[in-house]
Amino acid sequence: MKALPHDDLNGCTSLLKKQISSKSNAAENIRLKNRSGTTKILCVSDTVDPLVYSNNIRERFRDIDFIISGGDLHMKYYGYIVSNLNKPLYFVFGNHHLKHFERFKKSSQSTNSLQNSGYSIKNYFGSICIGDKVIRDKKSGLIIAGLGGSIRYNTGRNQFTDIQMYLRIFRLIPKMLIHRIFHGRWLDILVTHAPPYGIHDCTDRCHVGFKAFLWFMKMFKPKYLLHGHVHLYNANKKRETDYLQTRVINVYGKYVLNL
Ligand SMILES: [Fe+2]
Repeated sequence: MKALPHDDLNGCTSLLKKQISSKSNAAENIRLKNRSGTTKILCVSDTVDPLVYSNNIRERFRDIDFIISGGDLHMKYYGYIVSNLNKPLYFVFGNHHLKHFERFKKSSQSTNSLQNSGYSIKNYFGSICIGDKVIRDKKSGLIIAGLGGSIRYNTGRNQFTDIQMYLRIFRLIPKMLIHRIFHGRWLDILVTHAPPYGIHDCTDRCHVGFKAFLWFMKMFKPKYLLHGHVHLYNANKKRETDYLQTRVINVYGKYVLNL
């Protein structure tokens, strides 16, 4: 076999180095994008915000990358936001406004109880339900999981005991594990309706938080836990709290998150 001249070898080596370098730069750019404040998320929850439900929504939120909802909102509100901003909207259901809840559940014909307890991702009103799902936003590369519903306080729908919430978390683990292997982290954002126990929650039965979310943050270390459910009638009420490596944010009304 004819050996390549020394100059050609050097040329091949530098070309290979350039290709590897450009690939790692692309990966780094995605990571930097998430850190440099260029990913902007409009978060909504629980109540219609007049600055969002307004004629100026396009000008006001034109640089938003996507929308997250913590639930308890009308689906038509989501339709209004998506049709104006033309960006993906990821949401979970809360304990109210459940008129369209069944539309997002898996087929009731299924005999598998695990499947019956989950949801399918369907695009309805231009929105994507991420309840009991782990998804990856294509543009930003952010990994987002959803756990809707509130603590069980009566016989209403989408209410869970803490043990039931632990079981729902366990079902997310296989998908999060895949992200841990391929992307180096379990997830970036956990979207819930109810708050974690002892953080932003209240003492009345309906608004007590989930202890399961404290365990989730300890185990899977999301950068953010975004929740609603607890109304912020008092402007001085705490909206953000750091817990271990997670920033917990009550996105009641409207909140713009810069990453
Ligand atoms: Fe709620």
